[in-house]
Amino acid sequence: MARSMNPATSDDARATLASDADAADATLPPGPRAPGAVQALQWTRSPLPFLERCRRRHGDAFTIRVSHGGPWVVLCDPEDVKRVFTADPSSLAVSEPNAVLAPLLGRRSVMLLEEPEHMTRRRLVLPAFHGRHTEGYGDLMAEVARREVTRWPVGEPFELWPRMQAVTLEVVMRIVFGPVQSESLDRVRALLEQLTAWLNDPRRLAAIAVLGPGWLARNPGFRRARGRVEAAVLDEVRRRREGAGDGSDGNDVLSILAQARYEDGAPLTDKDLGDELITLLSDGPTSTSLAWAFERLLRHPDKLARLRDEVLDGEGDAYMDAVVRETLRLCPPVPVVVRRLREPMWLAGHRIAAGTTVAPCVYLMHRREDVYPEPGRFLPERFLGQAAGTYTWIPFGGGVRRCLAASFALQEMKRVIRTVLAEVALQPVGAGSEDVARSSIAFVPNRRGLVVVTGRAPGGPRTAGADETLPGLRAE
Ligand code: HEM
Repeated sequence: MARSMNPATSDDARATLASDADAADATLPPGPRAPGAVQALQWTRSPLPFLERCRRRHGDAFTIRVSHGGPWVVLCDPEDVKRVFTADPSSLAVSEPNAVLAPLLGRRSVMLLEEPEHMTRRRLVLPAFHGRHTEGYGDLMAEVARREVTRWPVGEPFELWPRMQAVTLEVVMRIVFGPVQSESLDRVRALLEQLTAWLNDPRRLAAIAVLGPGWLARNPGFRRARGRVEAAVLDEVRRRREGAGDGSDGNDVLSILAQARYEDGAPLTDKDLGDELITLLSDGPTSTSLAWAFERLLRHPDKLARLRDEVLDGEGDAYMDAVVRETLRLCPPVPVVVRRLREPMWLAGHRIAAGTTVAPCVYLMHRREDVYPEPGRFLPERFLGQAAGTYTWIPFGGGVRRCLAASFALQEMKRVIRTVLAEVALQPVGAGSEDVARSSIAFVPNRRGLVVVTGRAPGGPRTAGADETLPGLRAE
């Protein structure tokens, strides 16, 4: 319905009229007809099969109703995804559709800031993950992984995911706080572990999925656990600001952020610093991706043998790179990213109204038959000599909000896998592949990556440099 504009109308009223007219012109792609509550239940119980069913029935763009915040238009056509990732950043909002992350990361996290504040903050955080700051990270990652592997029992099944969580937490702790050992940092580590364990309790995960972020934000147990982490992190910030570096060389993220200044010369507030550091310390996707890499490799002995040969020969990392990319394709830890439109946008032949949530779907994009033949198979070979497509391989999202630690995470995955394969022989426990289960931040193997160590490299834990040619494994 067209409306005439009244010249005396206030700005607010004019905006309302404009968005009414906008909504009147707009259409949504088709989607399931079931009531929202039913769709929300399907989304909560088994989100990935739900997405696959919708795509089979409705195609590359469909509308689902799984949230109180209105419909989501799910997208898995590369052109549509490109349009979202390359849109003017100020035309997209993130904090509302990502509200589920706010209680954990904090509203002042770079991930939840709106433009233009987001870009300003991103520029402050980015250097910590690039250039000279990251030079020494590879050896650190290998050292942390090697120390972890020495603790693994031989011949006794154990879950790999928690062990990978321990590795990635230790790595990120050292990057955020520097090569510093102190009781106060041990406390931060212990409190972070408690917070992660609290969140990953299956009953609580179910409650968060059903009752939403509001329940989490109000829950006294969560508030206590998150509050303790924040207090301990801010304590560390204050100590660092007062000059108590405890041996920090100034290259750690905390030092970089504590010294960073906005263009007007203002430093980050304590609240901003706290939320930012907790965001980085909450790195969930890297440990789940590592758990998936081993889960897939151990169930494909030919691929595992090829990778181990490459590791032991010490020549290049082309196959390792392909294995990591294929793992992130097949088992992307973040299956969708979401944005709220601030302006109407043409997508999939529809003029989508401002206020609608659009969701570039990593999971469905990675399963496109035309881009990835036999998409359900674990085939690292598909990435050999073949660059990953900017808008078809999107485990780190895209555009100005692409994961700012993507190259760091890829490096970490490679160094950890390489170290583990050089130090121990692993076997999967249970014949079948593991299913997908939810964790607080990402999707994980449902048996948490159950494995057994069947052999160790001769001579026990190695301390030599990363480029040393590594001898074969001895069975025990
Ligand atoms: C395999 C590992 C990882 C995966 C798959 C991953 C995935 C993602 C994705 C999909 C996004 C975009 C979210 C969106 O568009 O809404 C993102 C953003 C982000 N990630 Fe990662 N991530 C990984 C590791 C890490 C690590 C190790 C860190 C830091 C220690 C990190 C820090 C961030 C931050 C700060 C953002 C927000 C960037 C911005 O908004 O400008 N990620 N990540």
